[in-house]
Amino acid sequence: MTFKKLVPWCVVIGFVIGLVAACTDKPTNQTEKRIEALLKQMTLEEKVGQLNQINDVGGLPEDLKAQLASGEIGSFLNVIDPELIIEMQRIAVEESRLGIPLIFARDVIHGYKTIFPIPLGQAASWNRDLVELGARISAEEASAIGIRWTFSPMIDISRDARWGRIAESFGEDTYLNTELGVAMIRGYQTDDLTDPTAMAACAKHFVGYGASESGKDYNTTWIPEVQMRDVYLPPFQAAAEAGAATFMCSFNDINGVPSTGNKHLNINILRNEWGYDGVLVSDWGSAENMIPHGFAHDLKDAARIAANAGMDVDMMSYAYPQHLADLVREGKVSEKTVDNAVRNILRLKFRLGLFENPYIELPTENPFYTERALEAARQSVVESTILLKNEGVLPLTNVKSVAVVGPMSDAGLDQMGTWSLGADPNFSITPLAAIRSEYPNITVNAARGLEYSRVKDMKEVGKAVEAARKSDVVLFFAGEEAILSGEAKCLANISLQGAQTEMLKALKATGKPIVMVVIAGRPITMGPEIEMVDAVLYAFHPGSMTGPGIADLIFGKAIPSAKLPVTMPKMVGQLPIYYNHKNTGRPANNITYMDDIPYGAEQFSIGSTSYHLDAGDKPLYPFGYGLSYTTFEYSPVTLSSNILKDNETITVSCDITNTVKYKSDTVAHLITRALRG
Ligand code: BGC
Repeated sequence: MTFKKLVPWCVVIGFVIGLVAACTDKPTNQTEKRIEALLKQMTLEEKVGQLNQINDVGGLPEDLKAQLASGEIGSFLNVIDPELIIEMQRIAVEESRLGIPLIFARDVIHGYKTIFPIPLGQAASWNRDLVELGARISAEEASAIGIRWTFSPMIDISRDARWGRIAESFGEDTYLNTELGVAMIRGYQTDDLTDPTAMAACAKHFVGYGASESGKDYNTTWIPEVQMRDVYLPPFQAAAEAGAATFMCSFNDINGVPSTGNKHLNINILRNEWGYDGVLVSDWGSAENMIPHGFAHDLKDAARIAANAGMDVDMMSYAYPQHLADLVREGKVSEKTVDNAVRNILRLKFRLGLFENPYIELPTENPFYTERALEAARQSVVESTILLKNEGVLPLTNVKSVAVVGPMSDAGLDQMGTWSLGADPNFSITPLAAIRSEYPNITVNAARGLEYSRVKDMKEVGKAVEAARKSDVVLFFAGEEAILSGEAKCLANISLQGAQTEMLKALKATGKPIVMVVIAGRPITMGPEIEMVDAVLYAFHPGSMTGPGIADLIFGKAIPSAKLPVTMPKMVGQLPIYYNHKNTGRPANNITYMDDIPYGAEQFSIGSTSYHLDAGDKPLYPFGYGLSYTTFEYSPVTLSSNILKDNETITVSCDITNTVKYKSDTVAHLITRALRG
């Protein structure tokens, strides 16, 4: 597969399978010496303190001051008041015995204040540079208030649209997750973590979290080693090679062993095979979660298991602060194990330059929502929004009036999607606002019809129908609210919620052309709805600049180029569905649909193949699908060699011609398959 390249009219490009360049940030000997010197001076309690990460407690009470002064806390998450950050840091650096600085962390997942499309949307751009730029801008905004560690990128392969966290991933494909994960890491960290605008990245969740059974969050996973190594591990290995400063354990258990207590993954693979020397942080409370998993007897046992399995930092289980020192004294965890974990967190603090430069400088100008950030976010919306259907209606030219209707037409909060913590919806530009302000010559007839996506009551829909009747074209903004995807937001029914389908039927009855724009956190099953409309644009919660970016596409200021990073199922029963299912011994063909089977038909299986009687074998749209306003022609593909030998590269070439006189981007996909033998 290749990534985005500009293909001007009639210009031809070739493509090559590339290798990811590794840019590891290895510690210097000098740093290692400083780590050892510090370690020698540390008491066991001070060591344990470094491994303790706690959440914002909403201020700086006296007991917290005392804990900071005695070195009982190594890092914080979710403290976002810069003055508080400076004061906490001052206590750690100036009042604690060894003056070890704190790190302040946060889930800056797709923007801090300026919100970019959710990662699933960014993946649809297939554009590494744009993803890197989004991460860079996020780091600049967050670091301005003192956040130097983000819990991103999430590179969990996600093949089940029921799973709410599919929103946070780059979709179903290993290569896409690998490439975009590395791009995001580069954007956050730059090549110099000591830069005060750099944030340590966190490759998460290690590993297999996206394989949760039935797409239900935190659920069990069963992943054979071969699939683990082929599908789930490669993005993490690439992240380690790219110098991702930290990794996070996942909540799930794998083949019966919670990842937080999984020696095979955390020690054998991460440390021994990959030589990783960054920090492995637990997920929130994931050490404690080993108790209900049935893997640890109590919190002390959880601390023992986690420490011996290589978990460095305890996020919010309090297992380490309460029990680790005792476990060492009792000989159940060796001090060497604790020292190794402390080395990793101290190394991170050195790498971030915090010993030299512990304090942030308060910004003199507003660092948020800058013109550069908003422009990048707008471009990201343009490149992330997928054209799924177009029966000659888009782009809209010469329209005098549009109806802007539907629950997502003016939903500043919801369009930002999951993990837009702390971003201000007042800075979101909605489709309605953008069309009104940027197209003053077009009459806009607006009515949401449904206040939000789950509303079942049709009483306001009449106003939207009225707006449709008065307009040349209907722009129906459907989808799902931000709260319906993300962590713990899993669904068994992934069709359009509330009365959206009924509303669409009412709009359809007006006879006006309808453009449906879906704004959601996951693939939604909506075959019948797509049949009813003339064009479909699909946007995974696109963030602050949703309105301007989508309006650019609707009115032809920009040409759609995004392609699906996940397979869109026809119905939920097809899940999990992804393009590279292994072939069965009876690959799907000879499909007979349920309705074509005569009543009382004889039962036999000869000639039967692998598919569903009611859905066949195909999805609604395959992985990689996405239309444009232009078309591209592909010449036959040629290979530099027919045989790929170990450590050799094959160059695959193809001429791609843009056949319409619009300059446009496209992504050429090359899919390879291994055959044994
Ligand atoms: C999530 C992580 C997140 C952490 C800290 C957990 O619930 O699974 O992805 O980084 O919380 O907020």
